[in-house]
Amino acid sequence: MIGLIVARSKNNVIGKGGEIPWRIKGEQKQFKELTTGNVVVMGRRSYEEIGHPLPNRETIVVSRTKQFEGQGVRTAGSVREAIELAHGKDVFIAGGCGLYREVIPFVDVMYITEVDLVIEDGDVFFPEFNEEDFEKTIGETLGDEIRYTRTEYLRKKQAFSDSSGCAVKVALCEDNEWLLSEDAFAIYSQCMYHATYEDYTTQMNVLLADPSVKVFVCESQGTKTGMMVLDYADEIVEIVGIAVSGDTRRKGIGRKMIRSVMETENLQSIKAQTDEDSIGFYRKCGFSEEKTVIEYPDGAAVRYNCILKTGRL
Ligand SMILES: NC(=O)c1ccc[n+]([C@@H]2O[C@H](COP(=O)([O-])OP(=O)(O)OC[C@H]3O[C@@H](n4cnc5c(N)ncnc54)[C@H](OP(=O)(O)O)[C@@H]3O)[C@@H](O)[C@H]2O)c1
Repeated sequence: MIGLIVARSKNNVIGKGGEIPWRIKGEQKQFKELTTGNVVVMGRRSYEEIGHPLPNRETIVVSRTKQFEGQGVRTAGSVREAIELAHGKDVFIAGGCGLYREVIPFVDVMYITEVDLVIEDGDVFFPEFNEEDFEKTIGETLGDEIRYTRTEYLRKKQAFSDSSGCAVKVALCEDNEWLLSEDAFAIYSQCMYHATYEDYTTQMNVLLADPSVKVFVCESQGTKTGMMVLDYADEIVEIVGIAVSGDTRRKGIGRKMIRSVMETENLQSIKAQTDEDSIGFYRKCGFSEEKTVIEYPDGAAVRYNCILKTGRL
C-alpha cells in the first residue's frame, strides 16, 4: 500500500519559510498512528526540518545531494528507489510538494487534514489533483482554537470497459509505479531476448487492437503486479505476456504470483512467450507450450508460446 499524508490550509498551503505554518496540539496524532511500524518517505527539506529519524518507523529521505544513513533512516536518489527500498511494507509519502506531485497518480490512499486557516505568503502548496479519481470520506473535525478535519481519499478502481488505455497502464506497471514506455521497454527486452523497440511497439499495438485482451502484464518485481491484477479480478478473462525475471523465478515468487492470479474469478488463461532460459519455469507452473524458431538478422532464436488454462473455459 502506498499512502500519502498531508495537512493543508484552506488555500492549499503546506509550507512557509521551510516550516509547517501552524502548530496545532494533537494534529500530528494521526500521522504517528498511521506511520508507526511502517515506512515514511520524505523530501530532503522536510526531513531537515524535523532533523532526526522518526521513532519506531523507517524514514527514507529522497535527495540527490545528501546522504542520511543511521538508525531508522536511509537515503534514496528518487521516489521510485525509496518505494523499492521499502520492500513491500506500507509506505507513507510525507511531502513536500514535488514528492506529492510525483506520487498522486498512483497512491492508493491520501490522508488529507484540512486545516481551517488561510495562510498568507505560503511558499509550498499541495498539488492540484483530480478528485474524480478518488472516493472521498470526511472524518472528524477536531481542535479548539484552530479546527481541522480529517479526510480520506481512496483511489477508485479503474474499470476495464475500455481496454485500450487500461491495457497499456497495466502493461507498463512495475512495482506499483507507472513507467514511461522506455523503462517498460527496458524491462520487456530483458525478458524478450531479441526484442527491438519496434517489436515491442508492434506487439503492444496488436494487443491494444484486440478487444479480448484486457490486461498485459510485464512483470519484473514478483507478486506486486500479480496482486494488482487481482484487484481487477472480475474484469480479467485472459492475461497475455506474463514474463517473470530470473530473480523472481529463483525465489519462487513468480510461481506464487501465477498461482494467486489463477484463482481470479473470470480468468480463463494466461499466455506467455519465452525462450530456452526460462521455459523450465513455465513448465513447472504447468503451462503447455508450442515451440517456434524465429529468424533474426543476427541468428535464429527458439521461442515458446506457453499457455496455462484455468479450466473455466
Ligand atoms: N503540511 C504538511 O503536511 C507538510 C508535509 C511535508 C512538508 N511540509 C512543508 O513543505 C516544505 C518542504 O517541502 P518542499 O517541497 O520545499 O521540499 P521537500 O520535498 O521536503 O524537499 C525537496 C528536496 O527533496 C529532494 N527531492 C525531491 N524530489 C526528488 C526527486 N524526485 N528525486 C530526488 N530528490 C528529490 C531534493 O533534495 P536535494 O536538493 O538534496 O536533491 C529536493 O531539494 C516545508 O515548509 C515543510 O514544512 C508540509
